[in-house]
Amino acid sequence: MDTALAETPVVQPLTARRGGPLQGRARVPGDKSISHRALILGAMTVGETTVSGLLEGEDVLHTAAAMRALGAKVERGQDGVWRIHGVGVGGFTDPAGTLDFGNSGTGCRLAIGAVAGSPVTASFDGDASLRKRPMRRVLDPLVKMGARVIEAVEGDRLPLTLQGARDPIPIVYEPPVPSAQLKSAVLLAGLAAPGETTVIEAEATRDHTERMLKAFGAKVTTKPSGDHGRRIVLQGEPELEPANILVPADPSSAAFPLVAALIVPGSELILEAVMTNPLRTGLITTLREMGASIEVVDARDGGGEEIAELRVRAGALKGVDVPADRAPSMIDEYPILAVAASFAEGETRMRGLKELRVKESDRLAATADMLRINGVDVGIDGDDLIVRGKGRPAGGGEVVTHMDHRIAMAALIMGLASENPVRIDDAAFIATSFPGFTELMRSLGADLS
Ligand code: S3P
Repeated sequence: MDTALAETPVVQPLTARRGGPLQGRARVPGDKSISHRALILGAMTVGETTVSGLLEGEDVLHTAAAMRALGAKVERGQDGVWRIHGVGVGGFTDPAGTLDFGNSGTGCRLAIGAVAGSPVTASFDGDASLRKRPMRRVLDPLVKMGARVIEAVEGDRLPLTLQGARDPIPIVYEPPVPSAQLKSAVLLAGLAAPGETTVIEAEATRDHTERMLKAFGAKVTTKPSGDHGRRIVLQGEPELEPANILVPADPSSAAFPLVAALIVPGSELILEAVMTNPLRTGLITTLREMGASIEVVDARDGGGEEIAELRVRAGALKGVDVPADRAPSMIDEYPILAVAASFAEGETRMRGLKELRVKESDRLAATADMLRINGVDVGIDGDDLIVRGKGRPAGGGEVVTHMDHRIAMAALIMGLASENPVRIDDAAFIATSFPGFTELMRSLGADLS
């Protein structure tokens, strides 16, 4: 297991240039977090689960392959609906080979949690970016629940081999960092444990696992805890019932055309059926504080998650102070928020971004480098990112994306409105979360080539 399993994709440089206004309507692909969870919970449930609108990005396709390798039947119908015939809680079988999660921390950490509650042994691996990311945080509670780490690279990194617990032990767990992946891994392992598994979050993170567990018939209660936290209690060993999951459009993907529409003068876009779960909408809150025109239209229920159309119009932005406690609700949106901030007038300070250092890249450093090379006045102060906007940045830089899809997309959006074009070294990783990004942006009027 000494070479990353995923083939390194062919490097694809791409350049974004300033052009006319962006206009029209678009629906971005399905939410990545919900897509991973639907596949995993479907695989843990006997009977047929259907998933409509699944994100068919590389990250999620790796999770689908992993669930197949663990014994579930996972198929995409001609109608685009995915059908999963699961094996039941604790019913996974030993996979024949290593489970490859590519670039995906979420797929890998959630699957580690699911495997930890099954009496199987599985090896986990990923690409060079995923191999750098910390896994100890997720292994620590799972070991307390009875799983064993048979083999791991120094520092509990991938590749690693985990033996799931034959008789998982329910725990009360307080994650040391705000992380929905960590919470979800413990809850997925807790499904196979008798009694109550409890997660106490100091800061509430995205609650898709809790919502979806309920849709599959599990008993989960959530209560406020402290100023910003939650106490989540899962009743173990439920009879999960198959569900019909509708995956709404991913707000973290919608963020890119949304910010593009704000900074390209004269633009007006409608983004359709975007998930507006309040634990994911920190970016909208922040952009509105900056003066952005974002209307939330026709808010409605979208199968257990809130959805709405977002109507966005270009306009002047001003710098703001973004509090640290907002970070969990917009953790993936800082690169694109930093781009918006560099088109604003005045200083934007984004506080408490420690977790960005362990994303697909060191996203704090990569975001600052992306802006700096394009002529933006930017600094890092401890865990804060500070952008001093002066209207339109110069652009003209070549951005190193470090196998990070969100750095790649944020840099391209910047190039649609900066004085000079912005080139990225590699657009290949965009397909992990937003297949069709380039075509969708072009259909709205973007100049990408
Ligand atoms: C995710 C949680 C977040 C986020 C990631 C998706 C999830 O990570 O960055 O893209 O689906 O649970 P953390 O939980 O590690 O903050």
